[in-house]
Amino acid sequence: MYDIRNRVCIVTGSGRGIGKAIAMKLASEGGKIVVNVRKSINEGEQTLKEIDRISSGMLVTADVSTEAGRELLFAKTEENLGTPEILINNAGVGILEPLGGIEEKNLELMFRTNLFSPLRLSERFMKDSHGGVIINMASLAGINPFPGLAVYGATKSALIGLTKYMSLEMASYGIRVNAVAPGVVKTRMGDGLLNLMNLDEAEFSKKFTLTGKLITPEDVADAVIFLIKNESITGQVITIDSGSTQMATDYFK
Ligand SMILES: NC(=O)c1ccc[n+]([C@@H]2O[C@H](COP(=O)([O-])OP(=O)(O)OC[C@H]3O[C@@H](n4cnc5c(N)ncnc54)[C@H](OP(=O)(O)O)[C@@H]3O)[C@@H](O)[C@H]2O)c1
Repeated sequence: MYDIRNRVCIVTGSGRGIGKAIAMKLASEGGKIVVNVRKSINEGEQTLKEIDRISSGMLVTADVSTEAGRELLFAKTEENLGTPEILINNAGVGILEPLGGIEEKNLELMFRTNLFSPLRLSERFMKDSHGGVIINMASLAGINPFPGLAVYGATKSALIGLTKYMSLEMASYGIRVNAVAPGVVKTRMGDGLLNLMNLDEAEFSKKFTLTGKLITPEDVADAVIFLIKNESITGQVITIDSGSTQMATDYFK
């Protein structure tokens, strides 16, 4: 079993939501956590405060969709905590835009944040690495189409494909690479999706899940910890969807 204790863990986009839940679980396993936000500094500081109660870490404010931001994130990490051994490529943006109305700037933003950033951060991680684990945050939208999420879904499909290639090419560096693909999760991004569907949490869970329960950020974080610890798993994607993909498609009408 891969021991998380004292490992330097970078979690991109960990001021709130899924990233925060992963950062907290890694801290409870004894990891040293690099919290990262783009602009919500208060949220990053709050996450770090909670981490400091159970382990230790630091906050790096950096936009990982840019090369400068990614370099800053690694430079600060190495200067203060040492070489990272766990990288969670969690930061992501989702913009609902039906085909025919996709704005160039949104297309670029989603690909830069959801695909180029995990790719470049992982290459950087590999460069100085003595081995470790990478987890990519995919989405159910990258497996099953969801109306209005063509570009977002395409970035996540590509990230799932990239996860498999990364596992192959990084194995000789002693790096395992896996992904998780959650359905709608109870976060700011998930709430935004429910609002667009005009459904509250209970209505959505009843209509679109087998378990009758909306996925929590902690549910996703538990799967991430499992993938990090199990040293026989690489190149895999775990879907966390409350059973929604097992339901008859008619059910969605
Ligand atoms: N929620 C869902 O239903 C769901 C389902 C499947 C997959 N996912 C994926 O899970 C991940 C996290 O989603 P979430 O729901 O937790 O989102 P969220 O609540 O919107 O939180 C996103 C976090 O990422 C940060 N972030 C965004 N862009 C960044 C950038 N360029 N550089 C650094 N940090 C950045 C945000 O910080 P700032 O506020 O500072 O920008 C924030 O801390 C995403 O990759 C998303 O695609 C979410």
